[in-house]
Amino acid sequence: MSDLAAILTKYKLYLNPGLAKLLDFMGFGVVEHRAEGCYVWDEDGNQYLDFLGGFGVYSLGHNPPEVRAAVHAQLDLMPMSSRLMMSRQQADLAELLAEITPGELRHTFFCNSGAEAVEGAIKLVRMFFHAQGKPRTRIVSTWEAFHGKTLGGLSVSGRAKYRAPFEPLIPGVVHVPYGDAEALAAAVDDNTAAVILEPVQGEAGAITPPDGYLRAAREACDRHGAKLIFDEVQTGFGRTGYLFGCEHDGVAPDVMTLAKALGGGVMPIGAVITTPEVWQPMIANPLIHTSTWGGNPLACAAGLAAVRSIIAQDLASKARERGNQLLAGLRELQGQFPEMVKSVRGRGLLVGVEFFDEDIGGLCIAKLALKKLLIAYALNKPETVRLEPPLVVTAEQIDLVLGYLREALGETAELVAALKSAG
Ligand SMILES: Cc1ncc(COP(=O)(O)O)c(C=O)c1O
Repeated sequence: MSDLAAILTKYKLYLNPGLAKLLDFMGFGVVEHRAEGCYVWDEDGNQYLDFLGGFGVYSLGHNPPEVRAAVHAQLDLMPMSSRLMMSRQQADLAELLAEITPGELRHTFFCNSGAEAVEGAIKLVRMFFHAQGKPRTRIVSTWEAFHGKTLGGLSVSGRAKYRAPFEPLIPGVVHVPYGDAEALAAAVDDNTAAVILEPVQGEAGAITPPDGYLRAAREACDRHGAKLIFDEVQTGFGRTGYLFGCEHDGVAPDVMTLAKALGGGVMPIGAVITTPEVWQPMIANPLIHTSTWGGNPLACAAGLAAVRSIIAQDLASKARERGNQLLAGLRELQGQFPEMVKSVRGRGLLVGVEFFDEDIGGLCIAKLALKKLLIAYALNKPETVRLEPPLVVTAEQIDLVLGYLREALGETAELVAALKSAG
């Protein structure tokens, strides 16, 4: 048996008691132990079906053997870099990313997380204009965007609650409504260094923009010589049914940020990839942006194995098929529970179910937790439950979860009705 009380005490004393309380409230006050494929087991041997997928990390499922083997092999040779010699793993992964990313993207800087990749992207575009002798400071972002919680990432993110305690954030950032091409075009001017966009807004609750929106952003940038950053930290590597989310609109950015699934669920790794044009100032100044752990051999070995496997299994197509199945099933449920489910949306296996009421969503999550389903709400839109299973999820597992959801919605509807008649 797990000594749950002892771990909880340590969380209360040495970590964040508020977090422990939140996990417990959501029905996940247990200790995780091991994981494989679409499943996680707690220390008491209970099995959970993972439909959160680590917010997009576990595209290959948990602990994929091909990534684990690559990391083991590298571990035996040399886990971390001397930092004075070149790294074969880093060179190979950078070459692979240049081959598979759209447009002119070629030079990569490796870091350790999505937020760091966004920091790198902001610095790259600023440095580009600085090197031209015409510094530009304005960055256009969107409301409800999520680009990480470092000061730079937060500055371009769009949820007031997370931003307010840290203001003033970096100056020059303006926010416009996501999906509104006219508002975006109106915000871009000759002082705009960059527009930063998620091809599908993940933490805002799987918001898909109208077709052509990303292309319109490209055109607005081109009109003013501004650079376009696509944050593919969550949408990258097959998640939306395309290898990269921006392929939906057939448009390429000047800078792309990557992380999450890039590490194959085994190692943390982030990357920012850009064009030779934007990269140019970095050549004369190669140490201006560095990271001790960025691009370490273990992380790059994981990245190589992960990206090769995602492509070999054509997980982008699988995400599209399974995503269509999930969305169709959810729309049926919306029809059955119109008083609770406000909207169902998403692309590929980045899917959101928005409830009219945040508390109803919370109740549903707690009921699903009882059925041993890992599921959570979107960080920037708590009234939206997000479904982001590994891309290797089966049709049967999707049907199972749709059945769970039907039961949870039914039970929640009964509870709400009983509370109403009692009140
Ligand atoms: C689009 C996007 N950008 C950046 C980040 C930040 O990544 P990290 O948590 O690895 O710093 C996230 C995380 O959810 C994300 O979804």
